[in-house]
Amino acid sequence: MRSIITGTGSYVPPRVVTNFDLEKIMNTSDEWIRQRTGIIERRYAESGIGSSDLATEAAKKAIEMAGLKPSQIEFIIAATLSPDHYFPGIGVSVQTKLGLASIGALDVRNQCSGFIYALSVADQYIRAGTFRRILLVAAEVQSANLDYSDEGRDMAVLFGDGAGAVVIEAYDGNDRGILSTHLFADGRFVADLWMEKPSPKDRPVFKEEYIRERRYFPRMDGRSVFKNACEKMPEAVRLALSHNQLTIDDVDVLIPHQANERITQMVAKNLNIPIEKVIRNIDRYGNTTAASIPIALDEACRNGKIKPGNIVVLTAFGSGYTWASAVIRW
Ligand code: ACO
Repeated sequence: MRSIITGTGSYVPPRVVTNFDLEKIMNTSDEWIRQRTGIIERRYAESGIGSSDLATEAAKKAIEMAGLKPSQIEFIIAATLSPDHYFPGIGVSVQTKLGLASIGALDVRNQCSGFIYALSVADQYIRAGTFRRILLVAAEVQSANLDYSDEGRDMAVLFGDGAGAVVIEAYDGNDRGILSTHLFADGRFVADLWMEKPSPKDRPVFKEEYIRERRYFPRMDGRSVFKNACEKMPEAVRLALSHNQLTIDDVDVLIPHQANERITQMVAKNLNIPIEKVIRNIDRYGNTTAASIPIALDEACRNGKIKPGNIVVLTAFGSGYTWASAVIRW
């Protein structure tokens, strides 16, 4: 039994925020952002719109492409670091917004690696025969809580809002499908890319001093992220290829997490894969964390960059640190 992706979908909110727009609210420049990140614009959701809303729109498109009715979905897996609420996760809200019955809904919290972690969970359920049709959504609304001051500008310029979704179904043949997923983590780096507060370790959880110290915003050690992302993604891809007795020349399409154009360039160089085979859309959406891979995957499917029989490799790196890879024969 194999898992195959039968539908993909994506949705980004309509509001475009360019680097020039950011110049007006913080001390930055279009030139700095383009040179350092490759980003030209990103999307921001309006107040009142949550990641479950974006996920639901992406899910509708994926279900439609799969040729299914929502009622045929048997299980939902949702990946996000920006849920609508501290709890519960967004899987349950997506279930209700799609009008589904009381099927299970699982939330995965693995940040930029969230989509591949969720894909791995879905793949295991399908292989075990537990479910035959799973909806996987990944969505982020990051713009609501970025530090737009000079102190947070290194991160604020990077992130955007958006959602991607796939429908994964059981397939009885073995000529296509998810060939492998590999997952990794190293918790020594928790504080190198995190949102430290609010923390239930504190009494009270919300403190004036933390607001003054801007500790409710995400923070990263840019050099640590850069170094580790550039090392770990190629490592995960190499391991996945050797596991499947494939070489880099067998790869038709590589979809790395859209972290930063410079990281993507380094990953491609390290792997010695032609850049034309690497899907990149960070210029239009910025870094959409868990949603970045399924958005890129959806675009690549719809514009014909991914064809039947292709070897498609996914890789991600993010907060935790966590990193991962997946190999799919399309
Ligand atoms: N606009 C203008 N200037 C900025 C901005 C901004 N938005 N952000 C930071 N700067 C300034 C800094 O304040 C610093 O100024 P200073 O020299 O006066 O102190 C200067 O630019 C240099 O910034 P650094 O980040 O320190 O750059 P450095 O030369 O050390 O390069 C590196 C580090 C590797 C480029 C790193 O910062 C980087 O790009 N890391 C990758 C981070 C990233 O892309 N993460 C992705 C998100 S997480 C994920 O998806 C896994």
